[in-house]
Amino acid sequence: MRLLFIGDVVGKPGRQGLAAAMPGLRAERMPDLVVVNGENAAGGVGITAETAAEIFEAGADVITLGNHTYRHRDVYPYLDSERRIIRPANFPAANPGRGHTIAEAAGMRVAVINLSGQMHLQVERNPFPAIDELLESLAGAADAIVVDFHAELTSEKVAMGWHLDGRVAAVLGSHTHVPTADARVLPGGTAHVADVGMTGSRAGVIGVRREQALRAFKSQMPVRFDTADEDVWLMGVAVEIGDDGLARGIDQILIPVTS
Ligand SMILES: [Fe+2]
Ligand SMILES: [Fe+2]
Repeated sequence: MRLLFIGDVVGKPGRQGLAAAMPGLRAERMPDLVVVNGENAAGGVGITAETAAEIFEAGADVITLGNHTYRHRDVYPYLDSERRIIRPANFPAANPGRGHTIAEAAGMRVAVINLSGQMHLQVERNPFPAIDELLESLAGAADAIVVDFHAELTSEKVAMGWHLDGRVAAVLGSHTHVPTADARVLPGGTAHVADVGMTGSRAGVIGVRREQALRAFKSQMPVRFDTADEDVWLMGVAVEIGDDGLARGIDQILIPVTS
């Protein structure tokens, strides 16, 4: 089974970049399952039903989210009704949406889980015991498991890779928008990368127009942020998963879409 996991789609430039890059990527990688992080899809922060539909239209089978899940109120009912979009599983259980979904791909039942780190991010539960419990509840329900670990710290992300090594097919990091150079299959058979990066403009500061981000850093005053739109790249990973539900390989994908 070939999985394509694509990092945080940032604003309209990100959505357009995803749509532009997908046909070529699909022809080259022939994915059976495409998972896209969409937490920055709408105006750079959060997601709406309309922007989610655009991402599905571009070829996503599952959309994962993160700390910006609840930015737009009108998406809450959509998070409850659309099974293909998921938010971190360790958020309060009563919050809108669900933490995992099961997709069919190449004859396998693939559980896709969204999980948030707890360092510098707000969660209800520590992600480590939370994922243990969730995996226990999924026993027998999935042939392979893929985790989008949406977290700030590389240390927490590397730790989660080791925590789940041999128990899931992949632990793929999102949230920082900057890809890390550590993609590998861990000894137990779990594909891991601390962060896959984003799908958006490299001309800004993790998706924000650079002059605005610089003004905020220099002045320490509130600054209105707009989405950067030049030099859009698609960033992600391709993971090959065997019938045993473990990874055979992981390749980093860094593709310039516009200049
Ligand atoms: Fe993000
Ligand atoms: Fe995030």
